[in-house]
Amino acid sequence: MSDIAIIGAGNIGEALIAGLVKAGRDPQSIIATNRTPERSEFLEREYGVRTTSDNVQAVDKAEFVFICVKPQYVVEMLGELSDAIDNNDSTTVVSLAAGISVAAMEDALAAGTPVVRAMPNTPMLVGKGMNSCSPGRFVSTEQLGAVRELLGTVGDTVVVSESDMDAVCALSGSAPAYYFLVTEALIDAGVQMGLPRDLATTLARNSAAGAGALIESSEDDPVQLRANISSPAGTTVAALRELEESGIRGAFYRAVEACALRSKELGAQD
Ligand SMILES: NC(=O)c1ccc[n+]([C@@H]2O[C@H](COP(=O)([O-])OP(=O)(O)OC[C@H]3O[C@@H](n4cnc5c(N)ncnc54)[C@H](OP(=O)(O)O)[C@@H]3O)[C@@H](O)[C@H]2O)c1
Repeated sequence: MSDIAIIGAGNIGEALIAGLVKAGRDPQSIIATNRTPERSEFLEREYGVRTTSDNVQAVDKAEFVFICVKPQYVVEMLGELSDAIDNNDSTTVVSLAAGISVAAMEDALAAGTPVVRAMPNTPMLVGKGMNSCSPGRFVSTEQLGAVRELLGTVGDTVVVSESDMDAVCALSGSAPAYYFLVTEALIDAGVQMGLPRDLATTLARNSAAGAGALIESSEDDPVQLRANISSPAGTTVAALRELEESGIRGAFYRAVEACALRSKELGAQD
């Protein structure tokens, strides 16, 4: 029993498959599910994994079951999979869905099933994900270590308290969208200044990638990195003043708060 089942192999599920296969995992030990045959055919062709539309069959011999469907389907789906998972010696269920609590998942499964709640983000598509996970009470140290190792194939992985998960969702889960929006706004600002759109796009995209690489590799923290390029009475501070006076910092406070609230609401629906 050493299969990894990826239930609902969409964006996040596919990213996990890609990371696992790239890290040397035998593709035939991975079984992915979807409802649409075209999607399954694509995953078989692209990664050499096994596929099925039968979720029960997929979890049958799985040591790890990654639930990658949209949050609203998770609890009902776990109820349907409960018996099949319970028939295995020790299957660890890992949910990557926003908002769904460990308790809700444990309630849907047979008593004693190890459950890990994880929060990934889409840079896992290029091996640069930020994953956070919270283990349920039936997860052993070895099982948590194994989950961290599997998620580690697509990015950094930290263990956090479940009470922090809504905030984690609002920060790292959705942060890529915030950075994409900033990049999009910069492109439009460049066009407004008269730059051709393709040039503005090249400038904004490469600046985002470069700033990301600096944040990742520099010993300076983001505050210092910004100070480093803020000459007294210079051009950058003129721009930064406009951003601050326009309320960018408060906007992020409110955005992250709204995201965390929505994550809590999604969890409360189950
Ligand atoms: N995207 C993000 O930035 C992000 C970040 C953090 C966490 N998450 C979490 O990751 C999860 C997946 O998000 P996503 O963006 O990957 O969604 P997605 O691309 O829509 O993937 C969901 C997949 O589930 C499949 N599916 C739906 N119902 C199914 C069923 N009954 N049986 C088998 N497969 C089923 C769908 O394919 P078919 O229609 O072919 O069945 C689809 O490919 C969500 O819970 C989300 O909260 C996402």
